[in-house]
Formats: sequence, structure tokens, C-alpha cells
Amino acid sequence: MKALRYHGKEHIRCDTVPDPIIEHPRDAIVKVTSCAICGSDLHLYDGFVPGMVDGDIMGHEFMGEVVEVGSGNKRLQVGDRVVVPFTIICGECDQCKRGNYSVCERTNRNKDLAATVFGHSTAGLFGYTHLTGGYPGGQAQYTRVPYADVGPVKIENGLTDEQVLFLGDIFPTGWQAAVQCDIEPHDTVAIWGAGPVGQFAIRSAVLLGAKQVIAIDYLPERLSMARAGGAIPLNFEDESVVEALNELTHGKGPDKCIDAVGMEAHALRSLDSMYDRAKQALMLESDRAHVLREMIYVCRPAGILSIPGVYGGLVDKIPFGAVMNKGLQIRTGQTHVNRWTDDLLRRIQQREIDPSFVVTHTAPLEQGPQMYRTFRDKDDSCIKVVLKPH
Ligand SMILES: NC(=O)c1ccc[n+]([C@@H]2O[C@H](COP(=O)([O-])OP(=O)(O)OC[C@H]3O[C@@H](n4cnc5c(N)ncnc54)[C@H](O)[C@@H]3O)[C@@H](O)[C@H]2O)c1
Ligand SMILES: [Zn+2]
Ligand SMILES: [Zn+2]
Repeated sequence: MKALRYHGKEHIRCDTVPDPIIEHPRDAIVKVTSCAICGSDLHLYDGFVPGMVDGDIMGHEFMGEVVEVGSGNKRLQVGDRVVVPFTIICGECDQCKRGNYSVCERTNRNKDLAATVFGHSTAGLFGYTHLTGGYPGGQAQYTRVPYADVGPVKIENGLTDEQVLFLGDIFPTGWQAAVQCDIEPHDTVAIWGAGPVGQFAIRSAVLLGAKQVIAIDYLPERLSMARAGGAIPLNFEDESVVEALNELTHGKGPDKCIDAVGMEAHALRSLDSMYDRAKQALMLESDRAHVLREMIYVCRPAGILSIPGVYGGLVDKIPFGAVMNKGLQIRTGQTHVNRWTDDLLRRIQQREIDPSFVVTHTAPLEQGPQMYRTFRDKDDSCIKVVLKPH
């Protein structure tokens, strides 16, 4: 089969590799009909996430048709149409029982490695670093889905792939980011990053009844999409983010702040981001924390910082004194995808939201390597890429 494989920094190739096979009775094999490139893939592509190995199959946002089912899997049948969450879950451990799926205690095959780095193991993830199990991903014609009797979300016909594909990652990610804000009707929610995750955070914050949603980015097409979703756009190239946010909140600051940017934040002309770039280049710091610092500074006291943006290691110069004295709460994590999928699928079916709005580019899998670059460089007004493997 064909699959997009990692061959080092900025080097993805569409290779021919052996088809996956059932390795465990709970497995299923899914013929991938659509898969997407996620902002988290860019952190791998740009070489910021440790634990990638030459030849790893990429991709964690995918869906398709079940073509083979393990003997112990009583939930799926050949022919089922499924979206596969990027978090691999067992459904039985303490954390899964509590709905804390992204920290499932069983599915990471490299638990010891993860525990050495993070103190504890977290869930296995598709197409990601070996710190999260090194499972082959879904940017491929076929994927083996472990624990397939728990994770996959069955989809009835009548909805297109593009309407449901993002249930596997960015829609629940934006949703969880907003839910974690405990939004109240008088709240201003400021969202850094109007990429795909930011777009879903915006729409989720609106659905959850925020008074005012503000989207911060510098790319006009992303800010236009944010405006269409109900947000006030704020271009950080044109104005001071802190001043503009204070103005829009009568000097009080946003009640809730969402970081939908993560470790590769940029901020032109800001002193702290030059410091970050220098330290990152010298490998003295792994993640650029400009957005975190800005959120801490501008957030209204007693507010909430919700952080879906991915960080990998160490951040530097975090004004923790401000976090403590302002009484800010920090809520973060890889998304507990299956906690949200039933509700979000229902909202799609009831036409409360049509997630396909975010797709700007569709291409065959073979064009994946170019599409990684287009998405990373934000060329051609690219916001979200869907790849078709067949
Ligand atoms: N928590 C999870 O489970 C989860 C799931 C999916 C993605 N993510 C993470 O969410 C983040 C966003 O993903 P995406 O797909 O939207 O990626 P993306 O790269 O397309 O979007 C990031 C956006 O942030 C903007 N940006 C950069 N610096 C900024 C700054 N200083 N202020 C405001 N905006 C800035 C960029 O212009 C870009 O539009 C990534 O870190 C990704 O890894 C997390
Ligand atoms: Zn992702
Ligand atoms: Zn579990």
C-alpha cells in the first residue's frame, strides 16, 4: 500500500510499504477513505518533537471503511464506516473509566520511555512520536486500528467524509478547549491561533454562549474565516494584542484565554520571541512560549487559560508570579476525543455545525509531501488539507 512516511525533518515521502495485518484479536483494519494533516503533524515535520524514527507512517486524523476485524472484536463488522480518534484507548483502565482518554494507562507501547520523560505514561497515539507508542498512522491506504472494539466512532451514511472526519481530532479539540473555559454568558473568550483548531474553538465558544469571542492571528484568510464563525478578528501584525484585548474588554482583559498555537508561536518584533528562537536554535529550550506569556499577562484575574496547543518539553521565562497572584487556572491536555464524539456527532446530524467549512485543499495521498509544505507555509491560503488515499 501507499503511505506517507517520515524520513527526518521536513522530509515526508509517499512510499510503498507492506499492508497492515491484524496483530491482536481486538484489532481492525480500516481502508482509509479520507485523512487530514493536523497542526500537530507540523511539529513533527519541523523537527520539534523527539522520538520520531525514520520510516514512521504519519497521520492521526483519518476515517474509512472496516475491511477486516479481529476474532475478539464484537463491536465492528466488515463494511462499517468509522472515524478513528487519534487517541488510542482501552476503555477499561481507571483513566478511561473516568473519561480521561488521552491519558489511558494501557495503550502506550512505550510506557517506560514516556514515564521517564513525563513522569507518567500517556495514551498511545496514531502516527506520532515513539513517546506515544510509535503506532503507524492514518495517512495511508490502510491502517491497523488497535483496541478497535472501543475507539472508532461508527458513522451512518448521509454525511460526507468532510463533515465527520474532524470528529477524530480538531473538532473535539476546539470543543474541549472551549468547554474547559467554563464559559458563562458574560464572558469574553480570546483565542490565539486561527488555524483549524482555533476555528473549531471559535465556533465552540460561540455555541457555548460566550458574549464575545476574539480571534488572534496574522493571516487574513484565517481571520476572515474566524469572522465568519462569529469572532472579532485581531491581527497581531497590525496592532498590539494586549492593548486591543484590553480595549475590547473595557480594560478588564478577557475572562478566558485559549492557546490554539502551541510550541511554534511566532511574534514579529517581540523581544521574548527572539529570545525563544535563539534558545530553541541552541537547544536550550524546546518550545516557544510567546502565546503563553501573552495570555498570562492579559487574562483577567481569576480567569482560565485553556491550552490545546501542543508543547513538547521545556518552556522558559513563564511569569508564574502573575499566574499565582492573579489566581489563573490552567487547563490543558491532548484531547479526550471519545468524551465528546457522541454529542458532537449529534450536533453535526442536527445541522448545528458543518465541520467541512474548514477544508480549503483536497488532494490525492501521493501529493501529501507537497501538501505538508503548503499547509506549513500557509501558501495558497491553505487552512486545512484533506488527502484521499484511493
Ligand atoms: N490538544 C490536542 O489534542 C491537539 C489536537 C490537535 C492539534 N493540537 C495543537 O493545536 C495547535 C494548533 O493546531 P492547528 O492545526 O490549528 O495548527 P496551525 O499551525 O494551522 O495553526 C496555528 C496558527 O497559530 C498562528 N499563530 C502563530 N503564532 C501566533 C501568535 N503569536 N499569536 C496568534 N496566533 C499565532 C499561526 O499563524 C496559525 O494560523 C498545534 O499546536 C497543534 O499541535 C492539539
Ligand atoms: Zn492532531
Ligand atoms: Zn485506558
